[in-house]
Amino acid sequence: MFATTVLSYVLLAIAVTANPIVVRENLIRLPFAKQVNLTGASHVLKIDQARAAAFRAFGQAKASGSLKSDAVISVGVQNQAVTYVASVGVGSPATTFSLLIDTGSSNTWVGAGTAYKQTSTSTKTKDSVSVTYGSGEFSGTEFTDQVTLGSGLTIPKQSIGVASQSQGFDGVDGILGIGPVDLTSGTLSPDTSATIPTVTDNLFSRKTITANEIGISFEPTTQAVANNGELTFGGTDSSKFTGSISFTPITTTFPSSLFWGINQSIRYGSSNTILSTTAGIVDTGTTLVLIASDAFSKYTKANGAVLDNTTGLFKLTTAQFKNLQSLFFIVGSKSFELTANAQAWPRSLNTLIGGTTTNVYLIVADIGANSGSGLDFINGFAFLERFYSVFDTANKRVGFATTPFTKATTN
Ligand SMILES: *[C@@H]1O[C@H](CO)[C@@H](O)[C@H](O)[C@H]1NC(C)=O
Ligand SMILES: *[C@@H]1O[C@H](CO)[C@@H](O)[C@H](O)[C@H]1NC(C)=O
Ligand SMILES: *[C@@H]1O[C@H](CO)[C@@H](O)[C@H](O)[C@H]1NC(C)=O
Repeated sequence: MFATTVLSYVLLAIAVTANPIVVRENLIRLPFAKQVNLTGASHVLKIDQARAAAFRAFGQAKASGSLKSDAVISVGVQNQAVTYVASVGVGSPATTFSLLIDTGSSNTWVGAGTAYKQTSTSTKTKDSVSVTYGSGEFSGTEFTDQVTLGSGLTIPKQSIGVASQSQGFDGVDGILGIGPVDLTSGTLSPDTSATIPTVTDNLFSRKTITANEIGISFEPTTQAVANNGELTFGGTDSSKFTGSISFTPITTTFPSSLFWGINQSIRYGSSNTILSTTAGIVDTGTTLVLIASDAFSKYTKANGAVLDNTTGLFKLTTAQFKNLQSLFFIVGSKSFELTANAQAWPRSLNTLIGGTTTNVYLIVADIGANSGSGLDFINGFAFLERFYSVFDTANKRVGFATTPFTKATTN
């Protein structure tokens, strides 16, 4: 995948009016791709549940002060059945790496697959770096180097990890970590108390972008490989959403507060509240939409879905699917409708997960713990494919907007 980056800088001056309108748009657009790889034996759900458990474990370790400086448990995307990857160049001349886009961790590192090549822009720091993820890890040396997003925009002196060894990252070269910067705390040694500015932080402090925020757009797709994702640094791409963006503050509820956490309630159909207002997170590294076990029981009781052993997902017959109601995600005063179609795994990909073509497999699944954990849902990619999402570091908030694909009948 060769990404093209557009650094657009639009100056519109309407000379004839007394007060010229000046529109400046400093947006960096980084295309990314979705790859469904189910040749491994792993179930989508198992991977997502392991990730959810790792988020909770990270919170527990943090709360009890038992995080070891040399082995911080973070929650990156690894061994994924479905991955979202972008091409990122490092060095000059640049080596191109295929990196997982992860809002659930914040270290950016390379070298799991393609080897890092030191060039004139590479500077080795005195720090070693180590991150332990849910079911993988990497360790190596922290460098500063020039990072190129796509083919155009370069960021000088970005701090990046270079893996000397890693585990659990087949088919990718590392992670582009775009979670909150505090998640990098404790990953360096001997500088254990330092945080590592993320790519977004760096672009912002260098004034390349004028807002410390990220926008993510991805159209729902029925292909195993699709290239229609777009990550924008520095603002939102108004061509990718409809209406306005509704923002909600980062939740104060621990441990969701460590991540891109929000308060939300979920209703099935017109009146069945399956999850009362509670905290959870928005996460690009989770494929499905995960909800607390008690909420999930209410959901399947209402729609009649039963467990399918082979896929690990719950399934509906075609007749049951016809009666499936929308799920409403209520965030602040706004309600985001996940249609029946959006709750279905793309049927053209059913056989890839071991399913049959006649069943409908639900992308809403059990998070593996009852509500009240402080992390009661994950709005993963199955949600993010239907709503534009904004991760606003400067204002500590998350935003959603509808897109032309919110109600598409793609699946
Ligand atoms: C797909 O998964 C298999 C098994 O985990 C792995 O060996 C392979 O490298 C993966 N391929 C890609 C393109 O991710
Ligand atoms: C979120 O919910 C918690 C628990 O009800 C509440 O204390 C908090 O004020 C809410 N809002 C935010 C922004 O955390
Ligand atoms: C479903 O799972 C149960 C319990 O693990 C097992 O006994 C049964 O054989 C499985 N059925 C199928 C069709 O795999």
